[in-house]
Amino acid sequence: MIRLSDGIGRRFEYLRLSLTDVCNFRCSYCLPEGYRKRCGKPPELSVAEIERAVRAFASLGLWKVRLTGGEPTIRPDFEEVARTVSSVPGIRQVAMTTNGYRLAQRARNWREAGVNVINISVDSLDPVRFAEITGHDRLAEVMAGIDAAQAAGFDSIKLNAVLMRGVNDDELETMTRFVVERDLSLRFIEVMRTNDNADFFAKRHVPGDSVVRRLKAAGWHRLPRVPGAGPAVEFGHADARGRIGIIAPYAKDFCGSCNRLRLGSDGRFHLCLFGDGGFDLRDLLQADNQHDELIARIVGLTKGKAPGHRLHHGDSGATPHLASIGG
Ligand code: GTP
Ligand code: 5AD
Ligand code: SF4
Repeated sequence: MIRLSDGIGRRFEYLRLSLTDVCNFRCSYCLPEGYRKRCGKPPELSVAEIERAVRAFASLGLWKVRLTGGEPTIRPDFEEVARTVSSVPGIRQVAMTTNGYRLAQRARNWREAGVNVINISVDSLDPVRFAEITGHDRLAEVMAGIDAAQAAGFDSIKLNAVLMRGVNDDELETMTRFVVERDLSLRFIEVMRTNDNADFFAKRHVPGDSVVRRLKAAGWHRLPRVPGAGPAVEFGHADARGRIGIIAPYAKDFCGSCNRLRLGSDGRFHLCLFGDGGFDLRDLLQADNQHDELIARIVGLTKGKAPGHRLHHGDSGATPHLASIGG
């Protein structure tokens, strides 16, 4: 089997598959105006196109697929997509990232559809702030969703909190207390600058190393990386059941451990979250007999992946906001 790797020897085992760029939340760092409905844009990939794409990546050794967006569960066929992806030979882990708005009602169905790992965004544990950040007064539902996810038996549950100066950075200690009794990983994410949020970024960015210092001072210690792990560096504590993660893309060695590739909901293949506009694969997702040609294109393009993103140079590449290509 050919294994996917790039020109500097990084191997790829993890595909982030964006099912839609539409989102129903209006997070201040991402889509503060909400999402304006797609007009004149190509339709989202169909289930058949998704299946062909995932078969191709799986035959190149990828074993983890994360369903993301936008908000992936906005798609009415979300569960069919999850069932299809999880039944592709070679796919051992189906993960999803959600804002949690339907989690309390659907957690069990998503688990039954084959999703084993779930990441949920919770930027504040204070209901008023949560509403200010996301544009929706739904913290109680999201928290009920976390309980439902724990009851549904996912193999792993991770919470995402984007830390913002003067907005929620005073909640770091409260949030770490949340995982003392719960077997969860809560990750603090550095705000990333995109083409749409430059002013917000300048005002709100909290450097990841300052978060690491605060955690270490409170007795958290670094944990070894697990196979297939995403970008978070994880920390444990003698008194906590759960873990804390830091996602710090401005750290200088961040891109060295990159193990993931992205397929956008329009069928464009992105080698990096902050790169160029991606490469079209859709013309090769139309029939099963295109499999070999599709594989050859993926292998060839992956060789050209840049060693690192452009964020250090204050450049977000072609990325207007992270919902556009699946975070
Ligand atoms: P797992 O570790 O598999 O749970 O994945 P994850 O943490 O990457 O998934 P999630 O969708 O929860 O993303 C969390 C944050 O990490 C989001 O803000 C993503 O945009 C960010 N992220 C994920 N991959 C990359 C990457 O390759 N580069 C950058 N800069 N950020 C990333
Ligand atoms: N910077 C950091 N994280 C972001 N997310 C979306 N936009 C940004 C940004 N500009 C996060 C969401 C969610 C995850 C998928 O991506 O909060 O947790
Ligand atoms: Fe990999 Fe690009 Fe993410 Fe860096 S920004 S870790 S190169 S995908």
